[in-house]
Amino acid sequence: MLSHLLHLQGIDSVVLESKPREYIESRIRAGVLEHGTVQLMVQSGVGARLQREGLVHTGVELRFNGAAHRIDFADLTGKSITIYPQHEVVKDLVAARLARGGKIIFAAEAMSVHDFDKGATGSSPKIRFQHGGATEALECDFIAGCDGFHGICRPAMPAATLRVHEREYPFGWLGILAKVPPASEELIYCYHDRGFALLSMRSPEISRLYLQCAHDENLDGWSDDRIWTELRTRFATRDGWELRDGPILQKGVTPMRSFVAEPMRQGKLFLLGDAAHIVPPTGAKGLNLAVADVRVLTRALVDFYKRGSSNELDRYSDVCLRRVWKVQRFSWWMTSMLHRFPNEDSFSHNVHLAELDYVTGSRAASTALAENYVGLPFDEETKPD
Ligand code: PHB
Repeated sequence: MLSHLLHLQGIDSVVLESKPREYIESRIRAGVLEHGTVQLMVQSGVGARLQREGLVHTGVELRFNGAAHRIDFADLTGKSITIYPQHEVVKDLVAARLARGGKIIFAAEAMSVHDFDKGATGSSPKIRFQHGGATEALECDFIAGCDGFHGICRPAMPAATLRVHEREYPFGWLGILAKVPPASEELIYCYHDRGFALLSMRSPEISRLYLQCAHDENLDGWSDDRIWTELRTRFATRDGWELRDGPILQKGVTPMRSFVAEPMRQGKLFLLGDAAHIVPPTGAKGLNLAVADVRVLTRALVDFYKRGSSNELDRYSDVCLRRVWKVQRFSWWMTSMLHRFPNEDSFSHNVHLAELDYVTGSRAASTALAENYVGLPFDEETKPD
């Protein structure tokens, strides 16, 4: 996305992708696009298939105590979200870059980054990477570290300046992809005394479902039958709602973590997305927050190349972190409200229920959830502090 937006502004880039093209175009990841992420795709000319195939949702359901409660995004915010799998976004962006002569080197494993922290007169930043059995080097003006939580860019920042804020959750998600039409048109976030469950989808034929489980849950103990039985138990309503089952195509355990590294910039090295921050998946924010970083860096680089100003580059980390912390708060709050924590007593259980009752019963509280879920606006970031 960054490479695409820079290209539209006449700025060249090279993408070093550690995996082969087929891998990134098929790996099942996130699936919920915020209103602003959709707008950015459409406005930048890569949204045609998203507009054709994406499923527009104008609300979500919160389910607890065996009853359904809808949060109506359209009514509360005038906005919607779109279900469009991350690997489809990746396909569209790869195709757009290649069609416009963009350079993506697939299966290029970055080994180290150098010379990004020198003064204006120092040598240019370099990335050493392995490709096709040879070691190569790429020299550039700036390095965008979009290399994920386990990438090399964050560890390359001087330890003395990097601060890390972290929260681990004492549970994970057991996720399945199933060949069955989703049992609901909209997502269902379900709180149950046996733990959280989520109904999502990838298309009108494919369901994506999750169950709260232990953070180190062993999948061997989970037959398809046991998974469907547990899902049915947690999603059960007092009015007899039915969950259809079907062949399970994929199973996995998703860890839950909140993580922020700051600052998100050192010299000419910038961190974006999971390289700088991880959110638990409960708010569906990971992909969208990465795209938000991309917006900020694009604007800063345009300011640098077109106007010769470093002001926006200097503000990059602060501007990003303001949004990052709001999204961290939302993801942490959704996670805390919807999951059972170990050793919770009846007091805690009733507090979860009261919070859900309040959130679904009060227009003010529903709006607070809705405006975060569809994505906070971006305008504030363009105003100076
Ligand atoms: C998903 O469809 O994978 C999904 C949806 C909503 C979430 C997390 C994951 O909050």
